[in-house]
Amino acid sequence: MVKAISEKKNNNDEITMKDQMKKFLIKSLYGFLTVLIFGLGRRVGILDYLQEKAKSKSNTEKISSVTFTINEVSEKLNLERNYVDAWAHTALECGLLEIDDSCERCLRTAPYVYELLINRNQPAYIGDPLGAFYYLAPYQELILDAFKQDGVVPNFEFTDEVIHDINRMSARFGTLIERLFSTNYKEFCEKLQNGGTVLEAGCGYGYNLQVWAKKYEKVQFVGIDIDPIAIDFAKKMVKENNWDDRIEIHEIPINEYAKISIKKFDLITLNQVLHEMDHDVNYRSSIFNSLYSLLKDDGILLVGESMIPDTFAPRQKLLLFDVLHKFLEARFANFYNEKSFKEFIDSTPFTRAEFIKEGGNSIWVIRK
Ligand SMILES: C[S@@+](CC[C@H](N)C(=O)[O-])C[C@H]1O[C@@H](n2cnc3c(N)ncnc32)[C@H](O)[C@@H]1O
Repeated sequence: MVKAISEKKNNNDEITMKDQMKKFLIKSLYGFLTVLIFGLGRRVGILDYLQEKAKSKSNTEKISSVTFTINEVSEKLNLERNYVDAWAHTALECGLLEIDDSCERCLRTAPYVYELLINRNQPAYIGDPLGAFYYLAPYQELILDAFKQDGVVPNFEFTDEVIHDINRMSARFGTLIERLFSTNYKEFCEKLQNGGTVLEAGCGYGYNLQVWAKKYEKVQFVGIDIDPIAIDFAKKMVKENNWDDRIEIHEIPINEYAKISIKKFDLITLNQVLHEMDHDVNYRSSIFNSLYSLLKDDGILLVGESMIPDTFAPRQKLLLFDVLHKFLEARFANFYNEKSFKEFIDSTPFTRAEFIKEGGNSIWVIRK
């Protein structure tokens, strides 16, 4: 059915072309520019510079904004002044910066921009998912190839910068997941504080392991993965932290590790791994059989995974980051939703699966 376009609002409050222009054009342009300006600012080092500046001013006080001048950034970072000026002007327009009247030609970060987009150590930091949108831009040609129905999945060959960012992003999910888990399973986590064994299956670059190792200092960790580059990186991270006696890292697939391991674990974390795995249901079942055999009888398998509803399912609350994930990793196309994941778990030897969702984050707590 084709509807006639109306220029003005009619009595039935029909949406006008002007409304739609505001919605798509203005909103999307501001959004696009915000991502671009954030990504560029981070890449040329302006955001890191502002973080360092804030930290050097105050180690203890809560930082609400950072003040700077265009000349200062240009000189300190050896950046072309006109570009810094254009960057700052656009950042002002997008609401990332404000004029700071307390000094001459000064700018400051707008409220909460420091927490949300600059301070990587802040739990509220959303720079990594925003960075993922930014990094998507240079891959347009590959994405075009991916749309073609020739069955050939293009090799994205992300640069190191992108790979680390993506891994930092999944580790951030890990931080949120740990928080969700420890608030809902207080007793289990208190026990873990006194010692125990944790396996991170598909540990990647080890960013998530690092989060857990810092919190559970008496736990013995094992991290396994099939990606040799990630494993090398994770091993370096263990060395740098002097954690050799606490964390073992192995390059081995989950199923192979289950065959040789004599250890059983109190907790197994499977964070953002499933959607990257072969979709074959028998293969996935074999993975869950392996995890079952690696888990102690009273242990917990903690799965952190984007649960993405069907496109036509009733509207959920916040889906922006899940949808981003779906787009970024559409080539895997293996995302579960709550119902399909529960059905899958029911087909494995595990008998109990609890889904916990708070805000935009969720976990599956799975037991024997
Ligand atoms: C998105 S990364 C998540 C890394 C880590 N869990 C985190 O949260 O930071 C997914 C990882 O799962 C690993 N992986 C996929 N299939 C695997 C398997 N069968 N055995 C071990 N690792 C696997 C991949 O190599 C990749 O490093």
